[in-house]
Amino acid sequence: MKTFEVSKSNDMLERAKSVIPGGIYGHYGFSVRDTGPKFFSRADAAHFWDLDDNRYIDYMCAYGPMILGYGHPKVEEAANKQLRQGNTVSLASPAMVELAEVLVDMVSAADWALFGKNGGDSTALAVMIARAATGRRKVIKVTDGYHGVAPWMLGNRLGTTETDTQDVLEVAWNNTTELQGLIDQHPGDIAAFISSPYDHPVYRDNTLPAPGYWQQVEALCKKNDIVLIVDDVRAGFRINLAGSNREYGFTPDLICFGKAIANGHPLSALTGCDALRQTAQEVYFTGTQFFNAAPMAAAKATLQELQKIDAANLMTQIGSTLNQGLVNIASTHGYKLIASGIPAMPYYRLDGVSYETHVAWIDECVKRGVYLLGYHNHFISTAHTETDIQLTLEIVDEAFSALGPLSAHAPHEAKL
Ligand SMILES: Cc1ncc(COP(=O)(O)O)c(C=O)c1O
Repeated sequence: MKTFEVSKSNDMLERAKSVIPGGIYGHYGFSVRDTGPKFFSRADAAHFWDLDDNRYIDYMCAYGPMILGYGHPKVEEAANKQLRQGNTVSLASPAMVELAEVLVDMVSAADWALFGKNGGDSTALAVMIARAATGRRKVIKVTDGYHGVAPWMLGNRLGTTETDTQDVLEVAWNNTTELQGLIDQHPGDIAAFISSPYDHPVYRDNTLPAPGYWQQVEALCKKNDIVLIVDDVRAGFRINLAGSNREYGFTPDLICFGKAIANGHPLSALTGCDALRQTAQEVYFTGTQFFNAAPMAAAKATLQELQKIDAANLMTQIGSTLNQGLVNIASTHGYKLIASGIPAMPYYRLDGVSYETHVAWIDECVKRGVYLLGYHNHFISTAHTETDIQLTLEIVDEAFSALGPLSAHAPHEAKL
């Protein structure tokens, strides 16, 4: 198979650099690779095409939003119908109410819902509600847990000050002894514990909750009147449609959703329990675009379709098949591939090789039409077909041949 030419993408990147700092910024910027595509021309189902008209089977799904396939007819029809009726208008839309009804019905721990645009809107609101409800300042998050780009979420990154993060404490994932220790060190001053349902950091294997972990966290939060926030922005709808907490057997006070909720239309949501309803009403939360009706109509159609096709279980099956196939192919080439996290969001790492070798393998896959990333978990959608998986495995087989045998890459301690 010929490898892809990406000269039109490269030309566009050069053009971009003169008018956009860095050309492509944020997480899209991190992912730019010399030999890979930089800009898309179109997308459909589980595929996108780059500017050079190369087709990729997309295992990043726009970093999560695409869950039913690009351009899903039912979602687009609902969004377009609402667009024709009105989108950004001086009043709220019934689409907002209908969507909240669907979400409250579907998510077991949800008694109400509020909507924003990005996942970071919902995590910021969750923390404000927790602080307002408890009258406390401090928030405990998991080390390397990502919750968006508000300064308090970012740690000591460029453009933030120490005061931004002075009320944020960090605890190791799966470690309730440390959590208890932090609570003891700050008696009566912890407003919230915020965490994704399982640990999905970048550059590291992803880790599921240890048996009993979430039950212990829930008990600690209850005992100390700490608001328990699940950040389901990334994993939401890919583990369990009733909320990822259902899979792990516990009940949070607030759940943050985003990414996949509207199959790529801009929307996020915070759901909560009755006890926090009054505070949720009192905390000031708004944005010019928060009331756009078309993304809400798209979200309603997305959630209904997800339920209709039992999407979380379907993606778990597709992801498991893909993982098994990739692990087998790797081993026929003498490599050990580790697939961690949940099957619908697999994180891949070639074991016992340097990060450079791992990324060289990823580049060989991308150059042939399988879009993977070297440092991040991947995403499965319901639009990935058996044919897509079969073709992926053939391409990955070729990518390993192009990489050459393990012995050609001096063995390293895994650095990922
Ligand atoms: C777990 C988690 N929370 C919050 C966010 C922030 O979402 P957004 O980028 O839509 O603001 C992300 C984004 O990747 C995320 O993965």
